[in-house]
Amino acid sequence: MTKKELKIAVIGGGSSYTPELIEGFINSYYELPIRDLFLVDVEEGREKLEIVGAFAKRMVAEAGLPIRIHLTMDRKEAIRNADFVTTQIRVGLLEARARDEKIPLRYKCIGQETTGAGGFAKALRTIPVILEICKEIEELAPDSFLINFTNPAGLVTEAVIKYSNVKSIGLCNLPIGTTMKIAKMTNADVSQVDMEWVGINHLNWTTKIKVEGKDVLDEILNKMPGSEGMNMKNIPDFGWDRDLLRSLGALPCRYLRYYYMTDKMLQEERGSLQNKGTRAEVVMQIERELFELYKNPDLSHKPKQLDERGGAYYSLAAVNLITSIFNNKKDIQTVNIQNKGVLDCLNNDVSVEVNCVIDAQGAHPVQIDKQPGPQIRGLLQVVKAYEELTVEAAIKGSYDTALQALTIHPLVISADVAKQILDDILNENQHFLPQFY
Ligand code: G6P
Repeated sequence: MTKKELKIAVIGGGSSYTPELIEGFINSYYELPIRDLFLVDVEEGREKLEIVGAFAKRMVAEAGLPIRIHLTMDRKEAIRNADFVTTQIRVGLLEARARDEKIPLRYKCIGQETTGAGGFAKALRTIPVILEICKEIEELAPDSFLINFTNPAGLVTEAVIKYSNVKSIGLCNLPIGTTMKIAKMTNADVSQVDMEWVGINHLNWTTKIKVEGKDVLDEILNKMPGSEGMNMKNIPDFGWDRDLLRSLGALPCRYLRYYYMTDKMLQEERGSLQNKGTRAEVVMQIERELFELYKNPDLSHKPKQLDERGGAYYSLAAVNLITSIFNNKKDIQTVNIQNKGVLDCLNNDVSVEVNCVIDAQGAHPVQIDKQPGPQIRGLLQVVKAYEELTVEAAIKGSYDTALQALTIHPLVISADVAKQILDDILNENQHFLPQFY
């Protein structure tokens, strides 16, 4: 891809994370010379878009770069002829996330943004909107790449793969964040850390870790139980059990705490609900503070308070990916993509999160050294089956398929509870789920 006038559209541009993305674009301007950057949002997000947009303009001016920032409510104008479209939307805003987190807790089930019944509700609201965006991309920018950060990223990627022709890649900050932390733990440069990931978004395991060419998986698994800071801001930092890690023979991602330590995590969530509120409610407070800072006309650098969010480094992941496609770099990054046989225990057409070679054509999965054993495969297959059903339910608006999805999810304790949770989700999201009504 060599083109003088690079255009990028950021859908959900009024997000509090946008300054991080802008910082990433500024830092890599010489590899990624963006001419037009469209920040687009919906009417409810207008005020935020204006605040973030003005801040983004100050950041670019301070850096002295000729990037033109456009603020718009017209999504089609933003998408038309874009080279890359990124999506970071939250259908129903943080209020809907708070409901997603609270409903399962009523029934003593984990209530989380992306994992379990909370992620299910978010998928039902989000997938139809993402597919509308895909239709516009097919029509107005068919050669562009869709880079999706919208959660639940694995489910969204799967819907896009199965129901659209858009060239798309799903992205999460978890792999890059983990790689950076392994580098810190081993005092190595990040470029010297080589990890093999097996699984799907927010449900994956690292089965190989090499640092400077040396296999350090066992060493890391040994160090991990007592290590601090191996977590994200949005997940309680409970240490791993040494015997669990040894028996697993792989490093579980942070979200696997919800499966391996369900009781503890549930207790923590119920306690937080009483004290400080759910994570969405905590994030609402962080956002209010962030937007107050963003309003300051003297602020032209990303404030450090943004690090309080779980999505730290997401812009680095995004910028690395876009830069590699644009420059045909052929490097390896961990992204969400169609399985195509990489994990032989899953269907070919589902989304997986694995290492891929990134070039001008997109992301190509790298064959893995060793297929996952039953201790990983079992959980992976059941959660993937839940995802397949959820995508279908989100598109068809089928109550029965939705009920099956929730019923088989390991974090939903029974079929009765699945039905109660589903009914609450449908009742409390009527406006966002026309496909069910
Ligand atoms: C992690 C996840 C993201 C998620 C974020 C939530 O970074 O990988 O997918 O969006 O946490 O963070 P928040 O600050 O919104 O709770």
